[in-house]
Amino acid sequence: MYSDTISISYFRKDAAFDTLYPIHIRELSQMHWTGLDISLEASNFLATPGARILDIGSGVGKFCIASGVYHPEATFYGIEQREALFNYAESAKAQIGVPNVQFMHGNLTNLDYDLFDHFYFFNPFYENIEPSIRIDYNVNTSFDLYNYYTLFIYEMLNKRPAGTRLVTFHAPEKQIPISYQLMNNSYSPVLKMWIKK
Ligand SMILES: C[S@@+](CC[C@H](N)C(=O)[O-])C[C@H]1O[C@@H](n2cnc3c(N)ncnc32)[C@H](O)[C@@H]1O
Repeated sequence: MYSDTISISYFRKDAAFDTLYPIHIRELSQMHWTGLDISLEASNFLATPGARILDIGSGVGKFCIASGVYHPEATFYGIEQREALFNYAESAKAQIGVPNVQFMHGNLTNLDYDLFDHFYFFNPFYENIEPSIRIDYNVNTSFDLYNYYTLFIYEMLNKRPAGTRLVTFHAPEKQIPISYQLMNNSYSPVLKMWIKK
């Protein structure tokens, strides 16, 4: 972990970290952004030395920024479809000053997945089938999009080389190809660590 005292104060608890964001973003934290304890567990598994790790649907960047601070030996990337959330992620990254984190604004279907070694997946498509948990109304949601994105990620994961690491959080197991072996879910039943065979 970095020794900068300003940064460390943000990592004592989630409420402290969330002060990096405006109030309406903080209010979404418990439901939509990965907590610090989960980020630590997930990144401990994903951050092999030199690895490039992609957060599939990175929101306001909480997973990437926390993981980047916990693991300077790896690089954490985030792709986010909502421009406002991407901008909040960039702002939080600048406030923390973490160099090994990169955010991209765009749709995850327009990405070259060969650029990444391992993946973090916090059920990013659920708001397509559960309107009550929508983050905002700035993107379209539908059952068709849920199926399209779910299949896209399934096929992408299936094509990755043996040894690819994946952490899923609150994701149904049927979304994960059978070629991935469950290695650990002892910290929480909804936090699962996988390696491709
Ligand atoms: C549950 S939030 C998780 C945020 C972040 N991974 C974290 O753990 O703090 C899921 C995010 O995925 C984004 N997302 C969903 N579908 C996407 C798509 N097709 N392309 C890019 N981002 C997407 C949503 O906009 C949302 O910000």
